[in-house]
Amino acid sequence: MSKARFIKTAVFPKDYPVIRNEAGKILQEVAVAGRSNVGKSSLLNDLFHSKKLVKTSTTPGKTQALNFFTYEDQIAFADLPGYGYARVSQDTKKEWGPMVQSYLKNRETLDLILFLIDIRRVPNEDDLQFLDWIVYHQKSMIVVLTKVDKVNQAEKKANTDKILEGLRASNIHYTYYSTTKSEGRDKLMAMIKDALKYGS
Ligand code: GTP
Ligand code: MG
Repeated sequence: MSKARFIKTAVFPKDYPVIRNEAGKILQEVAVAGRSNVGKSSLLNDLFHSKKLVKTSTTPGKTQALNFFTYEDQIAFADLPGYGYARVSQDTKKEWGPMVQSYLKNRETLDLILFLIDIRRVPNEDDLQFLDWIVYHQKSMIVVLTKVDKVNQAEKKANTDKILEGLRASNIHYTYYSTTKSEGRDKLMAMIKDALKYGS
């Protein structure tokens, strides 16, 4: 059985849940962010050992609000809507920026961002803009290179170099993930726990 629980969907700060463990302690939160279709919701299901707690889709733009979860009564997670998908409506696009910016600004328990990038793509303007916000709000970050089952070893190495170069940031913590092979789960979980411990 999955040890994760869905808590709430929210758009505005007044609706964010206060998430506590059974002992009443407010939990530190990890947000999962990145382009639409990069695999954010799938990664959370994989981390949670759950097939469908988090809604995923082959159609980009599936997640359009903030979704909050807890894992093992220890860590809160937020699944963020993705950016950069051309076919969502103009209204939805207009709402995305303020929704995510106010989350980064107002969510005091937010201690770590998992910034997902598809191993087959170089970071684009939207990714760099989002990275700027992470830096501006002084949040810790782990870059997760997703869908590594889609590349061979040589491509994996070459693409990693290109992506890290494209982010133009030094000292980036990064790791690999594939949900089809459940590759990278234990490593990422260890990195998350490590980051939260040192961040508090
Ligand atoms: P939005 O909610 O639209 O922002 O998308 P998302 O980032 O949450 O992506 P989601 O998890 O819904 O996955 C999008 C598609 O990518 C689905 O078809 C997934 O099955 C597929 N996918 C996710 N992770 C992997 C992976 O590691 N390998 C492969 N091959 N496909 C993956
Ligand atoms: Mg999603």
